[in-house]
Amino acid sequence: MPVSYTLEQYVNDLRAVTAKETDPVKITDLVAPLAKEFARSAGWFRPEYRDCDAEQGFGVHMLHEEPNHDLAVFLVSWLPNRGTTPHNHKTWAVVVGLEGEEQEISFNRLDDGATPGFADLERDGDQVITAGDITRCYPEHIHSVWNVGKTVSMSLHTYGRHINYTGRSEFDVEHKREKPYMLKIAVDEQARA
Ligand SMILES: [Fe+2]
Repeated sequence: MPVSYTLEQYVNDLRAVTAKETDPVKITDLVAPLAKEFARSAGWFRPEYRDCDAEQGFGVHMLHEEPNHDLAVFLVSWLPNRGTTPHNHKTWAVVVGLEGEEQEISFNRLDDGATPGFADLERDGDQVITAGDITRCYPEHIHSVWNVGKTVSMSLHTYGRHINYTGRSEFDVEHKREKPYMLKIAVDEQARA
């Protein structure tokens, strides 16, 4: 397993990509192979990143964010049979599977977003992400993530901006509701918050 691609190198490469590109499709095309290489590198992993938050269902461990909250890198650890509500990101995202089985379900939005608090979603496709798989999200893409395996799953998430600072939403599909979505971030000794 390569150990030479450090967090500092990864973040420097993210800065270079986002300095020359603004289109989320182009950015994620360029970030995806970098994220995969970083995920395969061994040097950055710490045992506490495996810790899950029992209340939230998953632990969100920050490896990096810029002082203005751009370029956020998280290791997310998911308890079995736990996950997220459907949500958007309002920024680009690249996710690499590290361990376990995470089901991603995508949704299409049918309304125009003009009515505050209202959202009409229909379920679209789904896929299961395992070690080495990569998935990308664009700012308005809506999905949910669920650990469908029997053990803790882990994935590496890189965002254009820390997702508690993008004004993003979570959705109640049954009741057609939209509301702000904030995550609880783990308090890790080594976090670079
Ligand atoms: Fe997400």
